[in-house]
Amino acid sequence: MRVAVAGGTGLTGRHLVTALAAAGHEPVVLARSRGVDLVAGTGIEQALDGVETVIDVTDRKTVRRAGATAFFESAGRHLLAAERRAGVRHHVALSIVGIDRVDLGYYAGKRRQEELVRAGEVPWTVLRTTQFHEFAERFLAAPGPLAVAPRMLSQPIAVREVAAALAALVDGPPQGMAAELAGPREEQMVDAVRRLARARGRRCLVLPLRMPGAAGRPMASGSLLPTGPGPRGTQTFDQWLAEQRG
Ligand SMILES: NC(=O)c1ccc[n+]([C@@H]2O[C@H](COP(=O)([O-])OP(=O)(O)OC[C@H]3O[C@@H](n4cnc5c(N)ncnc54)[C@H](OP(=O)(O)O)[C@@H]3O)[C@@H](O)[C@H]2O)c1
Repeated sequence: MRVAVAGGTGLTGRHLVTALAAAGHEPVVLARSRGVDLVAGTGIEQALDGVETVIDVTDRKTVRRAGATAFFESAGRHLLAAERRAGVRHHVALSIVGIDRVDLGYYAGKRRQEELVRAGEVPWTVLRTTQFHEFAERFLAAPGPLAVAPRMLSQPIAVREVAAALAALVDGPPQGMAAELAGPREEQMVDAVRRLARARGRRCLVLPLRMPGAAGRPMASGSLLPTGPGPRGTQTFDQWLAEQRG
């Protein structure tokens, strides 16, 4: 099947394109670097020619509510409208566990993305997952002897396992809200960042920060963990660290 991957050049997208091809599908990548700009609304229609399913793993990395909302609003509207015109039969969106329990600016954008999908005419599936193992890397992005990581309880998952779950959705009917997908065990983000720093030979002090505002308490106390039993990935954070070293 011809499957479009919106954001197919990104972290999730690259794994997803590999998983789809391995399953015998024909992935089509939608990204600015491939001549498709979902925010500007350019190049989408041509790229969707013959496509039956679209999986949206686009992203704009921002903590700002206005920026995140503007991105997901504009990209979502353009993509869903083009899908409707092209006769796409299934829209799959990747989202995040707990976005309606934690009021972060970025999550307002993800909530908007989900709302558009749910209100749209293309049959849909939203898969919410927990943070990827790579999430810890962003707190070590700046050089220097000090790093800051949020007080945050997470159940991180391997992005490869997220991509496999997304690819498997292509073979079934639209599910609406799919069961939440999480990693095998809970981690304190500060502790995970410290282990990552050690594994990378980075000598720095990682300081815990309680996120300011209404998001701080729920983030720290488990609101980003899945609420139901649901499917679980198998690779732990420590196994991911070991794989990175290898
Ligand atoms: N990171 C996590 O822990 C986590 C956990 C759960 C869910 N998620 C969700 O997973 C999704 C993917 O995240 P990621 O970290 O894999 O993303 P990423 O690596 O930042 O990749 C983003 C992708 O979006 C494309 N893109 C950005 N702006 C675009 C535009 N205007 N038009 C077309 N394509 C555009 C980029 O390609 P170009 O730059 O070439 O345009 C790139 O392929 C996000 O929606 C995120 O919310 C992430």
